[in-house]
Amino acid sequence: MSELHIINHPLITHKLSIMRNRKTGSKDFRELLNEIAMLMGYELTRDLPLEDVQIETPITKMTAKMVAGKKLAIVPILRAGLGMVDGLQSLVPVAKVGHIGLYRDPETHKPVEYYCKLPADIEERIVILVDPMLATGGSAVDALTKLKDHGCKHIRFMCLVAAPEGVAAVQAAHPDVDIFAAALDDHLNEHAYIVPGLGDAGDRIFGTM
Ligand code: PRP
Ligand code: URA
Repeated sequence: MSELHIINHPLITHKLSIMRNRKTGSKDFRELLNEIAMLMGYELTRDLPLEDVQIETPITKMTAKMVAGKKLAIVPILRAGLGMVDGLQSLVPVAKVGHIGLYRDPETHKPVEYYCKLPADIEERIVILVDPMLATGGSAVDALTKLKDHGCKHIRFMCLVAAPEGVAAVQAAHPDVDIFAAALDDHLNEHAYIVPGLGDAGDRIFGTM
C-alpha cells in the first residue's frame, strides 16, 4: 500500500498559509511554491542510497560517500506542476525533466491529455511526479499510468495540498507510489476544488484568473 507522507515543518506550513491567502499575488505565490518544493524535496530524497567513492582532498586520500545508482527525473504535470520544478532542480541540478500535459475538463472534472515528452532513459530513473494539487486524483492517476507505460518503476508523487478523495484514488490505482504532501485538506466542493485549498493553482501561478 502506498504511504501518505505529510511533511510537517513550520516553514512549509507558514509558507503554505501565505499561499492560501487570496490576497497573495502571483509573484509571491510562485516564489513560495518553489521554496516549498525545495524544502519538500529535501525530505523526499532523504532515503536515497549512498555509495563509497575514492577521492583526494587537498590534504589526503579518503573514502567519501555520494548518491548511488539510479539518477532522478522530475516530471511536472502541466501547467501548475511547472511551478515546483525550479525548487527541486536547485537541489538536484542534474535531474532530467519530462513534461505531461493534462487539463481537467470543466464539466466532467476528468483529465484530458494534450502533451507528453519524457527523457529517453526515464525507465532507469527515480521519478518525482509533481503537481501542487491532488483533488479528485484523476490527473495524478493518469500521469502515473503514463509513466508506467514508459517503463518507470520507481515513482514518488509530490503535491502541496491533497484532498482525501485524491489520496484514496492514487492509493487504489497505484499502490506502489508513495505520496508526499505539505497538507491534507478537508474535502472537495461541488466543482471538485479542494476545501479550504488555495484555489486554482495554475491560474494563481500564471495570473490567468
Ligand atoms: C489542476 C492541478 C492538477 C489537477 C488536480 O490542473 O494542477 O493537475 O487540477 O485535479 P484532479 O486531482 O481532480 O485531477 P488543471 O486541470 O486546473 O490544469 P492547469 O494546471 O493547466 O491549470
Ligand atoms: N485544481 C486546482 O488548481 N485546485 C483545486 O482545488 C483543484 C484542482
